[in-house]
Amino acid sequence: MGADLHDIRYVRMGTDNLDDCVQYATEILGLELVRREAGAAYLRGDNRDHNVVYTHGRAAGHVVGFELPSMDALDRAASEFENAEIDVKYGTSTEREQRRVGGLITIKDPTGNIIDLVARPAASGKRYYGTRDAGITSFSHVGLRTSDSKTDEAFWTTWLSAKVSDWIGDAPLLRIDDVHHKVALFPSSFPGVQHVNFQVESHDDIMRSYYFLKKKNVRLAFGPGRHPTSGARFLYFYGPDEMIYEYSTGVRLITEEDEKTYVPRQFPMTSSSFCMWGAEPDIAEFKSEKEPATHAA
Ligand SMILES: [Fe+2]
Repeated sequence: MGADLHDIRYVRMGTDNLDDCVQYATEILGLELVRREAGAAYLRGDNRDHNVVYTHGRAAGHVVGFELPSMDALDRAASEFENAEIDVKYGTSTEREQRRVGGLITIKDPTGNIIDLVARPAASGKRYYGTRDAGITSFSHVGLRTSDSKTDEAFWTTWLSAKVSDWIGDAPLLRIDDVHHKVALFPSSFPGVQHVNFQVESHDDIMRSYYFLKKKNVRLAFGPGRHPTSGARFLYFYGPDEMIYEYSTGVRLITEEDEKTYVPRQFPMTSSSFCMWGAEPDIAEFKSEKEPATHAA
């Protein structure tokens, strides 16, 4: 029912500080600037056309793009959403050209997170070449904000082909392919992207970036640490507009074979559910309201 998501594709984030975002993304995060066009900047951390777009004006909010396997699948999803009276916005030719996709529809989840569903997005024949050697291998997942995690979880699992891999408190970690999670929904009072994840090649890259970011006086948010849920080693840090970025490596895969016996686990909303090494998050959505506020750095 609804859309069978093939993969996460991009995130678009409105900003009032386009130049700062581009400078941060290239010099700190390690992305490659692909183009600046119509007041927006397109960047990438893998061999797809782009993964991160900074758009003009913070009021534009955040959009997460997912790829469907074909134009037919996109058409079918659109009519199923319409039959269920889920609002569908059809992308204009200008919007499709800007996103470098063949097909585009846009929907919202119950919280109001804006979700682009696309078909035939452009790959790039040119190898991704980062501005610094951060060891990035791919854009991999986002944390999204939810004002009602049970309702949003039901929407994502019913209409967007997601499966729950684990819960931390009320926050579901959702997979759409073998990777433990490509989306996670964190309780919040407003919609939008809560963090943006890039996979890096190894834990050496995590530690290299830890020292690099410290030297550059980047505000660290959490880690280095290891998630007991996905097994990934991670490092979270802040960028412009208080956006949180994450490098991680070694995420668990839940294959079709594993799915025959896999049951999602319920972790409590405590810092040890986010880090098995003992790091404390400086991230509001990762803290239980009952826990005293602690800061990692
Ligand atoms: Fe993450």
